[in-house]
Amino acid sequence: TPMTVAELCALAPVIPVLIVDDLASAAPLAKALSDNGLRALEITLRTPVALDAMRAMADAAPNAVVGAGTLRSPADVKAAVAAGARFGVSPGLTPAIADAAAEAGLPLLPGVATPSEALAAAERGFDHLKFFPAAANGGPSALGAWASPLGGLKFCPTGGVTPQTAPEWLALPNVVCVGGSWMAPARMVAAGAWEEIGIMARAAAALHA
Ligand code: 3PG
Repeated sequence: TPMTVAELCALAPVIPVLIVDDLASAAPLAKALSDNGLRALEITLRTPVALDAMRAMADAAPNAVVGAGTLRSPADVKAAVAAGARFGVSPGLTPAIADAAAEAGLPLLPGVATPSEALAAAERGFDHLKFFPAAANGGPSALGAWASPLGGLKFCPTGGVTPQTAPEWLALPNVVCVGGSWMAPARMVAAGAWEEIGIMARAAAALHA
C-alpha cells in the first residue's frame, strides 16, 4: 500500500525540493541526501530529465521515497505515476488535479495559500497541505494564525524556508515538516559536491523546533 502523506511528512523534518538538470547527478544526489537522513525527495518536473531522474534516484537509493513536484495538470500526475513517483506535490490544487491523483492512487501534498484554498482542499479529503509560498505568504506568524480556526489541517511550509527559519516553522502546532532547496544548491550539484551536500542534509535531518 502506498505511504500516506502523513507518513511521508514524518520521515524527516525537511523534504528536499530538487531541480535536476543533469541525469548523471540524480543517483549520487539521492544517495547523498537519503544516506544522511533525508528520505523523502521531491523532484520538480521543471527540467527535461526530471522523470528519468526520478527512476535513477529510486534505483540508486532504495531507502529514499522519491516523488514528483511541480504537478500542474492531470497530465503531470499521469507522467509522474508512470515514472514511479510515490507521492506528488503541487503548487496549487484544481479539481482536475485532485481527480487525477485520486484515480492514479497517488498520495498528493497540494499547495494552498489562503484559508479558502485550505478548506477547498479539505473538502476533497486532503488534511496535509503545502503552505506555499511560505515566507512570502506571511511567514510563520501567518500560518500559525491558521492553527486554531483550521484545526485538524497539517502543513508543510515550502518556499523561502531556510535552515535559520526552519526551527520557527517546525515549532508551529500545525506544521509537520518543511520543504526547501537549500541543501542541494545548483552550483554544488553541478560540481558533484556530494560530501558537502551530505553534511547539509545531515544538519537538515537534525532540525527541530
Ligand atoms: C520552489 O518553488 O522551488 C520550492 O518552493 C522551494 O523553494 P526554495 O528554493 O525557496 O526552498
